[in-house]
Amino acid sequence: MNTKQTNEMLPKTSDFLPLHGTDYVELYVGNAKQAAHYYKTAFGFQSLAYAGPETGVKDRVSYVLVQNKMRLMLTTPLHSDSPIAEHHKKHGDGVKVLALMVDDAYDAHEQTTKRGGVSCLAPKTLSDANGEVRMSGIKTYGEVEHLFIERKNYNGVFMPGFVEWKSVYNPEPTGLLYVDHCVGNVDWNQMNPWVSFYENVMGFKNILSFDDNDISTEYSALMSKVMSNGNGYVKFPINEPAEGKRKSQVEEYLEFYEGEGVQHVAIATLDIVSTVKQLMARGVEFLKVPNSYYDDLLDRVGPIEEDIEPLKELGILVDRDDEGYLLQLFTKPVEDRPTMFYEIIQRKGAKSFGKGNFKALFEAIEREQANRGNL
Ligand code: FE2
Repeated sequence: MNTKQTNEMLPKTSDFLPLHGTDYVELYVGNAKQAAHYYKTAFGFQSLAYAGPETGVKDRVSYVLVQNKMRLMLTTPLHSDSPIAEHHKKHGDGVKVLALMVDDAYDAHEQTTKRGGVSCLAPKTLSDANGEVRMSGIKTYGEVEHLFIERKNYNGVFMPGFVEWKSVYNPEPTGLLYVDHCVGNVDWNQMNPWVSFYENVMGFKNILSFDDNDISTEYSALMSKVMSNGNGYVKFPINEPAEGKRKSQVEEYLEFYEGEGVQHVAIATLDIVSTVKQLMARGVEFLKVPNSYYDDLLDRVGPIEEDIEPLKELGILVDRDDEGYLLQLFTKPVEDRPTMFYEIIQRKGAKSFGKGNFKALFEAIEREQANRGNL
């Protein structure tokens, strides 16, 4: 195994872009009204805010949902000549914005663009009776954007331009807490350029690397490097395909997304058994590893606090690193194209990403690819 812990101690200095975590994730979708219903029903998100023609926005509607510290925005264009419509025509449903919380959106723009970041939103200040939100943004891989959101002087429900969205339909939350990490799939030979982008433009560090010797041969081959900001609140693994005997899952993504984009968003929970049980009962579909995965689980990962039976019943995966262990599970793609999915993760000390599960997982993914005729 060639996993390299390339940076055991995250640096405390030279953080020219202090980040406090993910502010929100915005998806462009075909029908935001119905997608919002899905995220409420299936994942337990709560109605938070709305923007559209009724609030003076003429070209789109956006619904903002929240669960604990995670905010999700779902946006649909109202006309075919909108860039949002072009995006949706090409990619289908997918992540457009990974918005990050900053202290100073104007400085974030200055610091990143002077290091080579390409602006997609010049700094601007939005204000209403509840205060002001300052924001700016730069482009990253594919058509994905990072918006820098500064909301320390804002007390409204979300941001100016949005009104509170009250609904009579409020399914219970499922214990989802916050965004743990967001993974990007990039094209052949593009992983290292994007690693450099996160290092040079955003001041991130490469904290873990997986090469094709870790995760290849007859399994879906890929290479991955995990980029983290200084405090570890924002982590972006970057995958690229690698040559294998069969078509890589990253290749399948690139083909069906018609370009680079966000592969999965990992959401943290403090009780994965309870969360996954509720998600499954509400119709969320997960990848299933064979039952044999559990036969020698404790030999592989050592003692864990959880009972094995519920983990086995739900198909929850376990992995260990030097600092502890983690429990995780991956949904099937949540749209008709085999593109974006979610990960549910509970960390018990471990700061890694479940490398020990890659083989079992890729076998499960390959079975799904074969079912789609894409292997
Ligand atoms: Fe992940």
